[in-house]
Amino acid sequence: MSDVKTALPEGFKAGLEGIIAGTSAIAEVDAQKDALVYRGYAAHELAEKASYEEVSYLLLLGKLPNKAELAAFKAELAKSRALSPFVLESLRRLPPTTNPMVALRVGVSRCYIEDPDGDRTDAEANLRKAKRLVAQAPTLVAAISRLHRNEEPLDPDPSLDQAANFLYMESGAEPDADVARILDSTMTLYAEHGFNASTFAALVTASTLSDMHSAVASAIGALKGPLHGGANEQAIEMLLKIKEPDAVEPWLKAALERKEKVMGFGHRVYRHQDSRAPYMRQLAEQMAKRMGDEKLFELSIRLEDAVKKAKNLFPNVDYHCAVVYYLMGLPTVIYTPMFAMARMTGWTAHVMEQHASNRLIRPECVYTGARDLKFVPIDQRS
Ligand SMILES: CC(C)(COP(=O)(O)OP(=O)(O)OC[C@H]1O[C@@H](n2cnc3c(N)ncnc32)[C@H](O)[C@@H]1OP(=O)(O)O)[C@@H](O)C(=O)NCCC(=O)NCCS
Repeated sequence: MSDVKTALPEGFKAGLEGIIAGTSAIAEVDAQKDALVYRGYAAHELAEKASYEEVSYLLLLGKLPNKAELAAFKAELAKSRALSPFVLESLRRLPPTTNPMVALRVGVSRCYIEDPDGDRTDAEANLRKAKRLVAQAPTLVAAISRLHRNEEPLDPDPSLDQAANFLYMESGAEPDADVARILDSTMTLYAEHGFNASTFAALVTASTLSDMHSAVASAIGALKGPLHGGANEQAIEMLLKIKEPDAVEPWLKAALERKEKVMGFGHRVYRHQDSRAPYMRQLAEQMAKRMGDEKLFELSIRLEDAVKKAKNLFPNVDYHCAVVYYLMGLPTVIYTPMFAMARMTGWTAHVMEQHASNRLIRPECVYTGARDLKFVPIDQRS
């Protein structure tokens, strides 16, 4: 075997770190200022002042809606939420142990089969599909959650907004307006984040001129991993394991000695602070106060301080969101699917942008394997 000399380009970093892979007018992630901007508006301000539907309109259609536009958009979403018996039956037939993110991928693929715009990639068809996916995603996640605990899915309530309707479909109870508002804000913070791993996965698929549902299925697969969307579920499991605030420091010391990652901390792009985390932390605090149970929130703050001190690492959006969802009484297994239902807007907006000005995404790699091997016929191989 010849020696392989692997010449890596100067400044090469694994994982496409620092690589500009395209252009986008949807969101700006400014790591220097720790800022996230959706089409020119600060994401945290939108989370505080606008509804998830307004933000979805902004991301999909490029501007904030006026009252009439918003009303029409909401009516369209409400009308598109219900799942067909075919889609529901395919979810029912999954083994009860199916990972909910896998179930969501199945659900999205089933929705494609029935979608009237199928494989079309033109702007009008893509927008219709994007709205349908944004509307259907919460229904899919609520149905998956209920089936996971052996309960029948519920029909959507068209009189409720996206967040409130999700809470209703998941629990069957009339949603509390304040809790629905907090969920709505978390959904805005989760809605979009530039070329993150799942959006990039969607773009790679879309760039082959595959359809929007296939791109979203790719994105769901990428979001499932614990280094991406899966972190919110891992973070709550970690906090519940630590249990007591006084156990934080010894737990952290032992975890770092074992070289474990602290889930919900760190970020590839932000190196000082995740722009979404401060407002998500406020939402966790609001939720804790509302429930009259601040123990978990206090424990989370104590771990945040300890990780900062020990590793100079900060919590990302998933960390505080896990606390919010736990205090809402939502089952841990759907935290990542809930991230997906909120991110559906960002994914589909990016697919539309990609298809509007498509070029195949096909990077190269530096070969590090063997070269110049002499072929040996199979009957002479040891
Ligand atoms: C998000 C994440 C994948 C970014 O990874 P990255 O840019 O590839 O950074 P690296 O994993 O190379 O980490 C750089 C250094 O910080 C450390 N680090 C990063 N995140 C860490 C964490 N959560 N806990 C402990 N150490 C961490 C790494 O161990 C590494 O240290 P080293 O240089 O001494 O080996 C990473 O921070 C992580 O795994 N976080 C936990 C999962 C998570 O919360 N994901 C959701 C992201 S929104």
